[in-house]
Amino acid sequence: MAVLVTGGAGYIGSHAVKRLLAEGETVVVLDNLSVGHMEAIEALQTVADGRLTFVKADIGDRERVRSVLGDHGVDAIMHFAALAQVGESVQRPLLYYRNNAASALTLIEEALEAGVGRIIFSSTCATYGEPAEEFIPIPEHCPQRPINPYGMSKLHVEHMLRDACAAAAQGEKPFGFAALRYFNVAGSDPDGLIGEDHDPETHIIPVVLQTVLGLREAVTVFGEDYPTPDGTCVRDYIHVEDLVDAHVAVMRSLRPGDARAYNLGIGKGYSVMEVLDSVRRVTGVDFEVRKGDRRPGDPPRLFANPAKIREELGWTAATTDLDAIVATAWNWFNEHPNGYKS
Ligand SMILES: NC(=O)c1ccc[n+]([C@@H]2O[C@H](COP(=O)([O-])OP(=O)(O)OC[C@H]3O[C@@H](n4cnc5c(N)ncnc54)[C@H](O)[C@@H]3O)[C@@H](O)[C@H]2O)c1
Repeated sequence: MAVLVTGGAGYIGSHAVKRLLAEGETVVVLDNLSVGHMEAIEALQTVADGRLTFVKADIGDRERVRSVLGDHGVDAIMHFAALAQVGESVQRPLLYYRNNAASALTLIEEALEAGVGRIIFSSTCATYGEPAEEFIPIPEHCPQRPINPYGMSKLHVEHMLRDACAAAAQGEKPFGFAALRYFNVAGSDPDGLIGEDHDPETHIIPVVLQTVLGLREAVTVFGEDYPTPDGTCVRDYIHVEDLVDAHVAVMRSLRPGDARAYNLGIGKGYSVMEVLDSVRRVTGVDFEVRKGDRRPGDPPRLFANPAKIREELGWTAATTDLDAIVATAWNWFNEHPNGYKS
């Protein structure tokens, strides 16, 4: 099977490429390298046995997308390419609507024209916005009301896929799609070949590890007076290896006409304090912690109800222990304190 992985030079996309190669698939990565890393592709080439093609292009470049789909006989697309900084999306909303939604529309149009049968889309729990307490843990039927342009840009793509799928089901080129709504993705490839490298880094586990490595002075905890057991925000951390495992399971099960959505999380939350304690345990290093104000739009508790994917596909996350997740992230950051530039 030939799989097009958009955003395959990024954190999650590169892990998906490694997994697809291990499964024996042929992979084409399409990435504009706006925030991705050629070093990730070079590392993946060492385990690809000639089955990995890299194309430096934008998903909104219609001609390039068309020729890639035609040249490689793509059967399925895993669409990771996007900008994903919530704060930046508030500052530059139209950049996010252009890059994540308008350009994705071009990709989807060309995919349908080429007769691609399966599309797996990286959506996010940010499409739920601030769910009411009755929807915690969050099921897929929780109302989707994003509170920032990033979440909204992702919801637009879900709607494009849903409506196009329904219309195509009546025609000659039906396709199936799944919107996978990730919670907080963390950890790295256990082999240490590839890892997480965002600039700026905003995810808590890498930020704390960078503090352990002396690259940051201190960790700031944004709000200690939330209605949670220790007063700090609670989030659902899913290991990137589990996340890509779910992508493969979903890809194999998709049939033409399927329009699915699954929440990808472990189904329980860890507080910010629990993350800090885990990093201390795993690294054996203590660090300075500063108190910060609550950030707007940070709900107290966000974690998935992952029952739907378990019931429909028998899939659950293998790693639910926070220390185990942090350990693989530490393995990467300890070896690559400055990411791929190290
Ligand atoms: N990291 C998380 O915790 C998380 C949580 C929820 C959802 N997601 C989603 O998962 C996906 C991957 O996230 P990540 O953390 O790996 O991000 P990342 O920034 O590491 O990777 C994104 C990749 O997409 C590429 N890209 C961006 N816009 C492009 C375009 N227009 N054309 C071609 N390539 C483009 C970038 O160069 C980069 O290689 C994103 O869609 C993100 O919204 C991530």
